[in-house]
Amino acid sequence: MSDLAPVPGLRPVRLDDKTKSIMDRAIAREQSLSRLLMTFIVTGLIFVLLPGTFLGVWNLIKISSRQAVNSVSPAWIQAHGHAQLFGWVGTFILGIGFYSIPKLRKLKPFALREGWLCLALWVVGVTSRWFANIYPWHWRVLLPISAAFEFLAFLIFFRAVASHRPASGAPKPWEPWIFVVIAATMGLLTSLMLNLGASIQLARNGASPAFSHEFDQRYLIVSTWGFLVPMVWGFSSRWLPVFMGLRPLRKHLLLAGLGLNTLGVVAGFFDRFTAAGILLLGGAATAIAAIRFFEPATKPAKTTNVHESFPMFIRIAYGWLLVAAVLSVWASLAGEAAGIWGASRHALTVGFIAAMVFCVGQRVLPSFCGMRVLWSPMLMLWMLILLMTGCTLRVGSEILAYQGYAGWAWSGLPVSALMELTAVFLFAVNLAVTFLRPPIVVTTPLSMTTE
Ligand code: HEM
Repeated sequence: MSDLAPVPGLRPVRLDDKTKSIMDRAIAREQSLSRLLMTFIVTGLIFVLLPGTFLGVWNLIKISSRQAVNSVSPAWIQAHGHAQLFGWVGTFILGIGFYSIPKLRKLKPFALREGWLCLALWVVGVTSRWFANIYPWHWRVLLPISAAFEFLAFLIFFRAVASHRPASGAPKPWEPWIFVVIAATMGLLTSLMLNLGASIQLARNGASPAFSHEFDQRYLIVSTWGFLVPMVWGFSSRWLPVFMGLRPLRKHLLLAGLGLNTLGVVAGFFDRFTAAGILLLGGAATAIAAIRFFEPATKPAKTTNVHESFPMFIRIAYGWLLVAAVLSVWASLAGEAAGIWGASRHALTVGFIAAMVFCVGQRVLPSFCGMRVLWSPMLMLWMLILLMTGCTLRVGSEILAYQGYAGWAWSGLPVSALMELTAVFLFAVNLAVTFLRPPIVVTTPLSMTTE
């Protein structure tokens, strides 16, 4: 008799030796993949807490105490931005990509050492970038080396998830979410190439380790709207219709949204910021119509093990995506408008991206990381309330204070920063405790169970 654990709802089956050995290998592979993913996630959590959010809070408190946005060095601001976009969200995406893309596309498994090598290069790259920005010690050497390590890590990731043949039979036709994820991956590749080129340029001719303001604005459009936004759309269109019980995806509309978004990124990169904002807004609205977030659901949402407010926060996050695009149009029309640009950036990065990572991350990561159950759905509710309130206060106060519309708004900024920091800390605690708890007892991959 096999050693299946008595899990309610599963009927034990008798297995011959060959099947048992195939199952044992599948279980061992699944456990190693989960360990790899968990290490990516814990690494991302370390980046978001200290080099990312803590530095962001420090910068914001300094800016608001001096009531001047240029009171903080651009290198410190860029260190924060890079740690958040690549150190946190990028590390999560690489880990989830390694774990899920080969499975979703039914590809042959990749060698796990590629995943570990990618993680090692990525961590060294992102960490040395942060140090080169904060303590400009040998920055002319560190900056290009860090960019080269990040680029190499990406190539290893790309080879592992993109170049393998299907596990068996004829290749499956590509679903629309795959096109969206591929476009996002191209956005990541472009960001890393721009980063490498600009870092080499700076090392040879620059006076400090910070990108020029003009280049940074254009580079950020590629790394946020060109990489993170379509990546979130890709996984949203794959998972959320099921998790939220939505109507069937409008596939052509999703691709149309992706097309508009890509045009917007290209326009932004070539300094056509108003056209870019309008295209990005059109792309976001089209993607929302395609995934049908705001239409009545046809089935109840699957909220077991997460807080039942999960679908509402996903809708709020997509609302922030629209706000970010509208603010970018306004900023482009207002001329030098650091407050509106900053507000647009954080509507996107905190209101949309961080909120989506909080919602979808806590929905999928516990089960991907060895069949665990989220420690506290109630904590999930509180962190999302804090994140959304902090983001509203941040976006509103940043426009009022930086643009000189209302002096009292400077005092709202540190409060917003502490709220967001608390939300990020609770997110990290909820996931860390979840990983420390034992997995639910299933000794066989779920795909092999009898019901
Ligand atoms: C506690 C939360 C956060 C605080 C206090 C914070 C603070 C700041 C500050 C003060 C700036 C300088 C410019 C400005 O005032 O707009 C900034 C820029 C930036 N932040 Fe944040 N931030 C937070 C969260 C995030 C998150 C979650 C992300 C991304 C996921 C992010 C990405 C960025 C980026 C990309 C920039 C621009 C960097 C550049 O100019 O190169 N921030 N942030």
